[in-house]
Amino acid sequence: MGKQQEIVMSGIRPTGFLHLGNYFGAVRNYVRMQSDYTCYFMVADLHSLTTHPDTSELKTNIYRVLSENIACGLDPDKAAFYCQSHIFETSELYLYLNMLAYVGELEKTVTFKDKVRQHENNVNAGLLTYPVLQTADIILHRASLVPVGKDQEQHLEMARNFANRFNHRYGDVFPEPKAFNYGEELIKVPSLDGKGKMSKSENQNATLYLSDTDEDITKKIKKMKSDSGPAEKNSAKPDYIELFFSLMQLVSPAEVIEKYEADYNNCTIRYGDLKQQLAEDMIRFIGPIRDKAEQIRNDEKYMKDVMEKGAGKARKSARETMEIVRNAMGLNYFA
Ligand code: TYM
Repeated sequence: MGKQQEIVMSGIRPTGFLHLGNYFGAVRNYVRMQSDYTCYFMVADLHSLTTHPDTSELKTNIYRVLSENIACGLDPDKAAFYCQSHIFETSELYLYLNMLAYVGELEKTVTFKDKVRQHENNVNAGLLTYPVLQTADIILHRASLVPVGKDQEQHLEMARNFANRFNHRYGDVFPEPKAFNYGEELIKVPSLDGKGKMSKSENQNATLYLSDTDEDITKKIKKMKSDSGPAEKNSAKPDYIELFFSLMQLVSPAEVIEKYEADYNNCTIRYGDLKQQLAEDMIRFIGPIRDKAEQIRNDEKYMKDVMEKGAGKARKSARETMEIVRNAMGLNYFA
C-alpha cells in the first residue's frame, strides 16, 4: 500500500498535563506523519471517564491537550484533530466489538490489572473493555499505523486480534493496526527517579511536563540522584547516571553529549555542571512549547473551530466505515 493510502490514527487521554513521554512517544511522530499520511488524532475523553468520572475539569483539560499538541506542531489543517466523544459512531463500533472480545483476555491485560490496583473502589466495566474502545477508535478509520509509546504495545496487539476476529467472522473490512515509531523501537521515557515511566497524573515530581516553568524544570533536574563520579576510567554507568544521558539524547546537541561521555570515561565529569547543562537544554526545548500552548489555549474561538473542523473530517470517515460494517454484519434489513 502506498504511503498516502495508509491511514494513521492515535489518541491521548485528557487526564493531566502532557509530558516529555507523550511528546517523544507519540506527538513527535504525529507531527512527522501528518505530512505523509491521512491522519486522525484525537483527545480520548471517553477513555478518561474510566478512571476520572468527575467531569468538572474535563473541558479545561481537553483544551490543554488540544493546545499542547498544536504547540508541538500538530496542524489541524493537515490532520483531523478531534474529540473522541464527538464521534458517536465510535460507541456503536465499540458495542459490536464487545461481542467479539472475551472477558478472559480483557482481564489479563496489564493496564487493566494496574488500574484495578490503583482504583480498587472503581473497577468498572469500562475499565475492563478499555482496549475494545481503543480498537474502535483505530479501526473506525480503517487505520493501519498507530503512533504510540511502548506502554501501548499490548493494546495494539489486542486491537489486531479484535480486527482479525471481526474480519474472520464477517468478512475482510479492517486492515491490521500496528504500533508505529519512526525510530527502530517504541519509546519509553523513564521518570526522573528511575522508577517506571513519566506519567500524566502519577509521580509528578519525577515527570517533566510541557507546561513546567523554567524553575520547575531546573528544580526537578537538580533533585535527580547522582554520585561523586566514576572511580575508574571507562566504567559502566549505573542506571541513575544512564538516565541523564538518556534525557540528553532527547534534547541536547550531539557535541554536548559527546563532551559529557568523554568526561565520564576519563573520570572528570562534574554532575553539577551536567545537571545545569541538561536543565538549560530542557528549558530551550520545553519553554517555547509551553508559551505557545498558553497563547493558543486562550483563544477559545480557535479551540472550538479546531474541534469542529476535526469532528467534521472524522465523522465523514466514521460514517463510511460504519456503513460497510453494518452491511458486513448483516445489520441492513432495508437493503
Ligand atoms: P496516554 O494518554 O496514556 O498517552 C498518550 C501517548 O503518549 C505515550 N506515552 C509515552 N511514551 C513514551 N514514554 C512515556 N513515558 C509515555 N507516557 C505516555 C503513550 O504511549 C501514548 O501514545 N490508551 C491511550 C489513548 C488512546 C489511544 C487510542 C491511543 C485512546 N484511543 C487509539 C492510540 C489509538 C492512552 O491512554 O494514552
